[in-house]
Amino acid sequence: MVTAAIEIDNVTKTFDDLIAVNRVSFQVPRGATLGLIGPNGAGKTTLLRMISTLAVPDSGDVRVEGRSVRENPRAARAHLGFMPAEFGCPRNMSIEEYLDYFACMYGLTAAERAVRIRDVCELTELMGRESVMVKGLSTGNRQRLLLAKTLLHDPSVLVLDEPASGLDPRARNELREIIKTLASLGKAIIISSHILPDIEDISDRVGILEAGRLVLEGDLATLRAHTGIAQRSIRLRVLPEDLTRTSQMLSQLRGISTCEIRDQAIVLTSDEPNSNFVLAAILQQDIRVLQFAENEVNLEEIFMRSTAGKVT
Ligand SMILES: Nc1ncnc2c1ncn2[C@@H]1O[C@H](COP(=O)(O)OP(=O)(O)OP(=O)(O)O)[C@@H](O)[C@H]1O
Ligand SMILES: [Mg+2]
Repeated sequence: MVTAAIEIDNVTKTFDDLIAVNRVSFQVPRGATLGLIGPNGAGKTTLLRMISTLAVPDSGDVRVEGRSVRENPRAARAHLGFMPAEFGCPRNMSIEEYLDYFACMYGLTAAERAVRIRDVCELTELMGRESVMVKGLSTGNRQRLLLAKTLLHDPSVLVLDEPASGLDPRARNELREIIKTLASLGKAIIISSHILPDIEDISDRVGILEAGRLVLEGDLATLRAHTGIAQRSIRLRVLPEDLTRTSQMLSQLRGISTCEIRDQAIVLTSDEPNSNFVLAAILQQDIRVLQFAENEVNLEEIFMRSTAGKVT
């Protein structure tokens, strides 16, 4: 039987009387990227730490390349690269010294270390910067370095906790490309993030956690179908004095599935083939439109619909 690289089997973790992760199960096959999203405190980091053998589940188990994190954490760890959301960096080291230090900890020989450090620097675009001191690094380069360190022992499973946090748009774009390259090399990747468009771009599957529970898991089409939400979303901005009456009028309109006011804009969903009927209704009522934007229902919409803003 072909097993997935990451198998999460009914995992629970509590802190005193708080259930941080509640009977979560899913799998990540080799070469696939699973995006893990959910509100603050949903249990993402706790789950990622259990996968990475840094926290022990109260019940259930995780298998990494078939190795149980409870019974054989050492063997699981050999296949794992974990990139934490926060890390303390020894400041008086160059990039090369930093990577060499961790490569030594992985037990690589001097010859192996030289090859691996070159490879990970190339992959993370740190090539040519090896002598730069860690303490002066920008957030983008620091995240690159942390990812490079995570890849040193060539793990087949990558667990990345908010790797794009604090990155500017260009650095985020570069990180997305690196992650796609890593997936194409056959690695199984699980990545948590609050940046939903990034997750939508790089993930084959998405898991949504809320208050410790996995409320949804699957590819985007499956998630959309499970949420029972419409295909089309329209975002409409009108003059503030027109906002309430426009929203009331549109919510009564045939063909509109949902209508709500969010951030001073009206967000509609609909299964109709086009939005002409919405435009016609607006024009008929002499409503002054500032912006009318139409999209396929995206991950943000799925997230908003499937989570209730519950916190643990
Ligand atoms: N070591 C700990 N001791 C006690 N409670 C903890 C501990 N670690 C996490 N928690 C609690 O468990 C819950 C889940 O936390 P976790 O950090 O896993 O959430 P998260 O989804 O990663 O949130 P964020 O999006 O803010 O990073 C929270 O209520 C948190 O306060
Ligand atoms: Mg977290």
